[in-house]
Amino acid sequence: MVNIERNLCGIRLENPFLLASGILDENGYTMKKVMEDGAAGVVTKSISKEEKTGYKTPVVVELEGAMINAIGLSNPGIDAFGEEMKLAIKCGKPVIGSIFGSLPDDFRAVAIKMEEFGASAIELNLSCPHVVGVGLEVGSDPVLVRAIIREVKGSVKIPVFAKLSPNLSNPGEIANAALDSDGFTLINTVRAMAIDPHARRPVLSNAYGGLSGPAIKYIGLRMVHEIYRETGRPIMGVGGISSALDAVEYMMAGSAAVQVGTAVGMHGRKIFKELTLQLTEFMKEEGIASLDEIVGIAVKK
Ligand SMILES: Cc1cc2nc3c(=O)[nH]c(=O)nc-3n(C[C@H](O)[C@H](O)[C@H](O)COP(=O)(O)O)c2cc1C
Repeated sequence: MVNIERNLCGIRLENPFLLASGILDENGYTMKKVMEDGAAGVVTKSISKEEKTGYKTPVVVELEGAMINAIGLSNPGIDAFGEEMKLAIKCGKPVIGSIFGSLPDDFRAVAIKMEEFGASAIELNLSCPHVVGVGLEVGSDPVLVRAIIREVKGSVKIPVFAKLSPNLSNPGEIANAALDSDGFTLINTVRAMAIDPHARRPVLSNAYGGLSGPAIKYIGLRMVHEIYRETGRPIMGVGGISSALDAVEYMMAGSAAVQVGTAVGMHGRKIFKELTLQLTEFMKEEGIASLDEIVGIAVKK
């Protein structure tokens, strides 16, 4: 028998695989379906204080082994999201509320409501690479990062995770500024663009977007390894995971659990059952009884 359960800051996960923010998770019904189909839990779409409209289409470019999106953080606002949360938490598995804003006050207001709606944890989106005044713009300022985390930690009882960007030039400095959080989510998408050679212009209406999928796995692994080595904190690894071996690599780099995004879009939500089966098989072959044996094993102490 192998044990694939995880304990993430006191949150029990039946397996290490969660749905990443932004895929099938603006809607309570689809979040519930993903969990019924084998995900240990979900992270919601990033939600703000007020409703936000996104960019004009095209907002997504599908590529070989990758995609680029610039959705623009469109969401219905926290008050309207309560109905979706009600439906999602019926499943009984952890629902992590992803939130964003510009100032510590915005984050606090949304975090308090997420907790009231039954979220098991908060994930702070400090890393979206394609929207002005939020996301990466906020998450690359260590003073603001520290203030946001203090404000949110002082307002909710549930664990708080800081989701950081691979585009940071100072990841260690930002991780240190975020040490009042309970852990990290690494990574958000990588700033990128695509050009249509026939139209002679960028494909996305916003020109720049975020690259995701298998193409970014090695960037994610490096960042998880770096921040785990620096802080030793619990990490949810995300970026290009589409097989159990990808997840194992992320755990060996220091991830306590992992999230899957683009691969769910590419292969459907049944991928979660497949990942769990592949992982169990790998552990049996390798004589690994519990995932605790491999978390951070590739990081020199
Ligand atoms: C269409 C799309 C929408 C996304 N929306 C969000 C979002 O609202 N908030 C967020 O923190 N990350 C968002 N992300 C980033 C993912 O959560 C994840 O960090 C990234 O895609 C890397 O994982 P993957 O390669 O498994 O997709 C989005 C990604 C995609 C592809």
